[in-house]
Amino acid sequence: MDNFTFYNPVKIVFGKNTIPQLENLMPKTSKVMLLYGGGSIKNNGVYDKVAAALKNHDLIEFGGIEPNPLYETCMKAVAEIKKEKVDFLLAVGGGSVLDATKFIAAAAEYKGDDPWEILLSFGEKVESSMSLGAVLTLPATGSEMNPNSVISRKATSEKLFFGHPSVYPEFSILDPETTYSLPERQVANGIVDAFVHVMEQYMTYPVGASLQDRFAEGIIQTLVEEAPKVRNNPKDYDSRANIMWSATLALNGLIACGVPEDWSTHMIGHELTAFYGIDHAQSLAVVLPALWRNRKDEKNAKLLQFGQRVWSLNGENKDACVDDAIAKTAEFFESVGVKTKLADYGIDKQEAAEKIRDRFKQRGSVFGEHGNISPNVVYNIIMDCQ
Ligand code: NZQ
Ligand code: ZN
Repeated sequence: MDNFTFYNPVKIVFGKNTIPQLENLMPKTSKVMLLYGGGSIKNNGVYDKVAAALKNHDLIEFGGIEPNPLYETCMKAVAEIKKEKVDFLLAVGGGSVLDATKFIAAAAEYKGDDPWEILLSFGEKVESSMSLGAVLTLPATGSEMNPNSVISRKATSEKLFFGHPSVYPEFSILDPETTYSLPERQVANGIVDAFVHVMEQYMTYPVGASLQDRFAEGIIQTLVEEAPKVRNNPKDYDSRANIMWSATLALNGLIACGVPEDWSTHMIGHELTAFYGIDHAQSLAVVLPALWRNRKDEKNAKLLQFGQRVWSLNGENKDACVDDAIAKTAEFFESVGVKTKLADYGIDKQEAAEKIRDRFKQRGSVFGEHGNISPNVVYNIIMDCQ
């Protein structure tokens, strides 16, 4: 097992009717900005519960944060924060609202000339950020318990991430009942995103980290078991709760302890979203199987372990087991309702492969646990997407 430091300061408040606890979780004297998305919280009762809990707080609102949140929108919030002298941010929504709030928190205190540098430096240029808390309504990204944020820029069709310890939420409230109102597409997206987060920290090569492997496999098995239940009965509280907690643990740093990671599916997926506007999870569902086929030799031992432990593939022929594990994963994505073919999204393979290869060449990007997924390998992976 590799050496590691594990640190996670986020207080999680999990369960039914937990939103009223906001009253005590929030600093009493702060001027608060409540940030939210396109309005789902006004239709499902979450906004009313938050407003009731904060009735004694000095509160202003900033709505309209879009999925794949835009830098341009975030900077409007920063201007408002400075004008109104806000000193605490409360994000209420899915990963996009949380990510936007993290970027806003960092940009509002940024001392350099151009806050876009926060993303260009992957967060290295951040010195401090405003305090923030979250009420999560969509299990998927793990943003509620991690220090990461992904922001898009409309003007240049870019999608970049940053991470900094100062943007960990102080607390996150996770009430699974808030997820009853999710459209099927977002439930499916969330399951696939969490699944792929686990895989980016698991599907590399063995380093003797047995517990981390079992945690990772446990999260995947839970998602696989719960996905059909929530599809058949959207008000199954325990399924909602299990999916929500699985998604949080999939990307809060725990399963990354002491193991190699390979975030190339995400890196390629972010470009598909930046160029073609497809949902984050859709991009992952297309790329992951092709990436595994391309890296079958390097990832062989873990692909086999995954096939045996998660998909119960115990045949004699190891190559067949690996191929079946990849096929079963794509089938699972399809079964929850996320399509796995580029053509399903009307994307021209050749064009996407060239654009993304050229952009990675320009940036000098290389990915993978061995640092050998070059722009030309990315080209081959995209050409091999179904
Ligand atoms: O905007 P509103 O009206 O709230 O509607 C949203 C949005 O349209 C809706 N929604 C959310 N909760 C709902 C609901 N609708 C009904 N009932 C509810 N309870 O769902 C739609 C999608 O929301 P969004 O926040 O965009 O989805 P998600 O949580 O999947 O976040 C995706 C973003 O997170 C980034 C992605 O790149 C993408 O930009 N990621 C962030 C990560 C992180 N911070 O660690 C890691 C991930 O890999 C990912 O890259
Ligand atoms: Zn993701």
